[in-house]
Amino acid sequence: MRQKIIAGNWKMNNDKEETKSLINSLKSISFSKDVKVMIAPSYIHLSDAAEMLKDHKIDVLAQNMHFLNNGAYTGEISPQMLKSIGISKVILGHSERRIYYNETENSLKQKIKAAIESNFEIIFCFGEQLSDRKKGKHFDLIKNQLKIPLFHLESNSWKRIILAYEPVWAIGTGETATPNQVQEMHSFIRGLIKQNYNDDLANSISILYGGSVKSKNSKEIFSQDDVDGGLIGGASLDFSEFVKIIESI
Ligand code: 13P
Repeated sequence: MRQKIIAGNWKMNNDKEETKSLINSLKSISFSKDVKVMIAPSYIHLSDAAEMLKDHKIDVLAQNMHFLNNGAYTGEISPQMLKSIGISKVILGHSERRIYYNETENSLKQKIKAAIESNFEIIFCFGEQLSDRKKGKHFDLIKNQLKIPLFHLESNSWKRIILAYEPVWAIGTGETATPNQVQEMHSFIRGLIKQNYNDDLANSISILYGGSVKSKNSKEIFSQDDVDGGLIGGASLDFSEFVKIIESI
C-alpha cells in the first residue's frame, strides 16, 4: 500500500502568530490515520512548528536546504542545523527555486545526496513549463528532471523519496491539470521507476500532484490510480480549505 500524503507548502507566507494559529487549528482536527499530513512553514518558524508538533502526527518539512553542513554560505541553512531543531524532512527542487534561484539538476543531485546521507525524507518536485507541453516535450523533460538527481540512487535510498509532479503552468495560476493529464504523467513517472529499478519499487513510491489544488477539484485528482496525494500551495494557507482537501483523499 502506498502512503497517502497531503503536504502544505506555505512558501513565503504567514508571520509568527499566523503560523502558530494555523498549526494550532490543524492540531485540533483528527484526520484519518490513512493519510499523512505534512506542513512546510517558512524557515524562521520551523523551530516553533517542530516544538508545537513534537508529539503530534503532523510532520514538519523545510522548504529547501544546502548540501553542506556548514561553511561560508551567507543566508543558507544546512541539514545539520535542521536536524538540531528536530526537522528531518525537506522539499527539494521546487520550480520556484529552479526559476528564481537557478537550481539545476546537478545542484539538486548534490542536495539529494546530502539529504539521504543525513537521513532526511525528501519531497522532490519537478514539472514542465507550458511551452514544453505545447511542443509535446513534457515527457522527455520530466524524464530528464528525474534522471540526474534520482536515477543513480541505490534502491534502498528510495524509501526516503516522495515525488511531486507540479506542472509550472498550474502553480498559483488557478489552472489545474485535468485529472487525465495528471494520471497520464504519474503513470509515465511510475513507468520510469520500473524501467530504472523494478515493479515493486515503482509500486511503493508515493507520487503527489501539485498545482492549483482546491477542495473543489481535489477529490477527482486524488481518485486517479497513480495519484497518492497532493502538494498544496495557496489553499493550504486557508484552514478550512486545507482540511477539506485532506478529508477528500
Ligand atoms: P498552488 O497550490 O498555490 O498552485 O501551489 C502549488 C505548489 O507550488 C506547491 O508546492
